[in-house]
Amino acid sequence: MNKKIKVGMIGYGFMARTHSNAYCQVNHFFDVPLTPSLQMVCGLEKDKAEAFARRWGYASWTTDWRKVIEDDTIELVDICVPNNLHAEIALAAAKAGKAILCEKPLALNGAQALEMVQAVEKAKVANLVSFNYRRVPAVTLAKQFIDQGRLGRIFHYRANFLQDWTISADVPQGGDATWRLDAKAAGSGVTGDLLAHCIDAALWHNGPIQSVCAMTETFVKQRLHAETGKVEPVGIDDACTFLCRFQNGSLGNFESTRYARGHKALYTFEINGEHASIGWDLHDLHRLSYFDHRDESITRGWRSIHVTDGDMPYMGRWWVPGLQIGYEHSFIHQAADFLGNLAQGKPTSPTFREAMATQRVCDAVLASAKDGTWQTVAS
Ligand SMILES: NC(=O)c1ccc[n+]([C@@H]2O[C@H](COP(=O)([O-])OP(=O)(O)OC[C@H]3O[C@@H](n4cnc5c(N)ncnc54)[C@H](O)[C@@H]3O)[C@@H](O)[C@H]2O)c1
Repeated sequence: MNKKIKVGMIGYGFMARTHSNAYCQVNHFFDVPLTPSLQMVCGLEKDKAEAFARRWGYASWTTDWRKVIEDDTIELVDICVPNNLHAEIALAAAKAGKAILCEKPLALNGAQALEMVQAVEKAKVANLVSFNYRRVPAVTLAKQFIDQGRLGRIFHYRANFLQDWTISADVPQGGDATWRLDAKAAGSGVTGDLLAHCIDAALWHNGPIQSVCAMTETFVKQRLHAETGKVEPVGIDDACTFLCRFQNGSLGNFESTRYARGHKALYTFEINGEHASIGWDLHDLHRLSYFDHRDESITRGWRSIHVTDGDMPYMGRWWVPGLQIGYEHSFIHQAADFLGNLAQGKPTSPTFREAMATQRVCDAVLASAKDGTWQTVAS
């Protein structure tokens, strides 16, 4: 019989739902020797925490995250709260000897990320940062293609993450849902929120980034703050574009904005190599575009690979070839990998240390945008 692992969930918002769903589903589809037992959920409002607990099957609820840490029966702490709270909670969880799954971005900046890395490594607790897009089967397949050498030498890595939900000057900053527009809670704007995903995937696919040159803009300079009730300056980047050089000699080109009218979550990447190219689009996440110059010329062209066959990453656990899966499954894969490795005492990527590399790229991007110069990424 499977051993149970008690989970303490901090947050009851968007990510807490995706993670809770993953804990509920994981043992139905994956042979993982641990079964999550949902012990306690924490959030700002008691009624909402209670409603969340009842809906998802948490045994208890609280509005004080320290109660989650103090509960000795909880072995895994899952951090799904605004970015400015990640460090304090993770440090306390590490000190209490608990495994930690932390939402991205790991921290507000590289220095804070280092403190978190040191804490989990000192405490020897399992740690994972939720860069879930790595575990979309098509994105994992892209990594396999690169590792198999199908692309040959890589020349270009190009990624975009485009949204349009903050164009109106009436959207407030701070508070529920709009904490992302408040620099104190979010740390940065699209750089830490959206580009962090693109950077994590790029580092995984294409290796370290050495230097960056960036520009950012804050199009709406003042917004009503939902907590203070005052109109306050906006401290986050609404848009960010950066160029970079990877250690392997390839060039990177990244763009993110919340001002691309018509785009809700257009995350795309394209990788161009000597022999082949790969493309992926979150709006069509079960497909991988692939072009191989070595194909016979009369049939050569871009293929759209429907990533549903049983020999493709994670897909052997799902339905039958031809039937696709979606966004929520990336979190189920994340839970399966984390719990499976946890049971065997193995690390799961991206660990806090690996995610610190993304944080350092974000730091360099923001520093470059500030002073208009190329910046070397700390290593
Ligand atoms: N992996 C992804 O694709 C992805 C997507 C969205 C968000 N995120 C990340 O997940 C984290 C949470 O984002 P979200 O979209 O779920 O936010 P959300 O606004 O939906 O939920 C935030 C939750 O934090 C709780 N909270 C806030 N302050 C608290 C406190 N002091 N004590 C206890 N609880 C508190 C709120 O009650 C709420 O339940 C962020 O770090 C975000 O960057 C990741």
